[in-house]
Amino acid sequence: MKAGRNAPCWCGSGAKLKRCHLHRDVLRRPAVHLGRVGPLRSVPAAIARPPYALDPPTWPLPEPQILSGAALERMRHAGLVAAEVLAETVAAVGVGVTTDELDAVAHDAYVARGAYPSTLGYHGFPKSICTSVNEVLCHGIPDDRPLADGDIVNIDVTAYVDGMHGDTSATVGVGTISPEAAALIDTTRDATLAGIADIVAGEPMQRIAAAITAVASARGYGVVAEYGGHGIGEVFHADPHVHHTLTSRDDSVALPGLCVTVEPMLRTGAPRFTQADDGWTEILDDGMPSAQFEHTVVVTDDGAEILTVLADGSSAVSPTGPASAA
Ligand code: MF3
Ligand code: CO
Ligand code: CO
Repeated sequence: MKAGRNAPCWCGSGAKLKRCHLHRDVLRRPAVHLGRVGPLRSVPAAIARPPYALDPPTWPLPEPQILSGAALERMRHAGLVAAEVLAETVAAVGVGVTTDELDAVAHDAYVARGAYPSTLGYHGFPKSICTSVNEVLCHGIPDDRPLADGDIVNIDVTAYVDGMHGDTSATVGVGTISPEAAALIDTTRDATLAGIADIVAGEPMQRIAAAITAVASARGYGVVAEYGGHGIGEVFHADPHVHHTLTSRDDSVALPGLCVTVEPMLRTGAPRFTQADDGWTEILDDGMPSAQFEHTVVVTDDGAEILTVLADGSSAVSPTGPASAA
């Protein structure tokens, strides 16, 4: 990561990145204060629940999800629903909107499509999406904190429908954000799509980490090593763990039909983070912001197909059109 920070800044100033648009004073925002978490929302009894909404979770993680035929079609539908819920929720982001209001928008969007919000009741998580603001790395709980001008927020949506989970997230700016925050978001999107684009059937999954870290470090950002993607399908979290940083523990292979998420978190500051007292919210110790994007994909004979897209192939991850990495 050090080399990237000494590289010329992407803005063309000629200055080193660490002295230019990685500028910490600009990226740092007032500390996020966790707010009050509202009551549980209800899901109509007619909507099928995943088993864990009733039972405690199992460990170790379930088997990799290798899907084809009708099961893969159901997975495509879950991906579409997740992408639609994410798009609706992102459209509701604005200055003064609380993350609990975003949770309400998402909740209604799942229910309107006959989907169960996978996070609701997952290991006791109390809400229908995760909302992670600024230095909140991940798993933020929607609460009554209003979004402020210049914040960035990741919205992570997981839909359970037709017996399958679709998982996708995007980070967006609130009001007017700094060019530095926009660069973090753009690089995280690029890294996510680069990781997906480098998936090759029969080759090591490690290609994903190589592509992600190359994009991130070239622009001076760190990639969070402690969280990765996961197998997904009939279960929310399955093997393999999808590493986003290079490690010798990454020994899985991209088998055709394998369904996984790719969901790197890029950070602008130091790697250390701490879990809040709520048992979920992970917050970077130095208060510097991070961003994340996530798609659910299936390995195909010639790469990977992104499942968490709208009918026209676009998504809140790639809003401008059909995903280039498909
Ligand atoms: N959607 C998250 C993921 O990408 C998981 C959230 S689990 C929760 O895997 F319990 F925190 F909601
Ligand atoms: Co995920
Ligand atoms: Co997710």
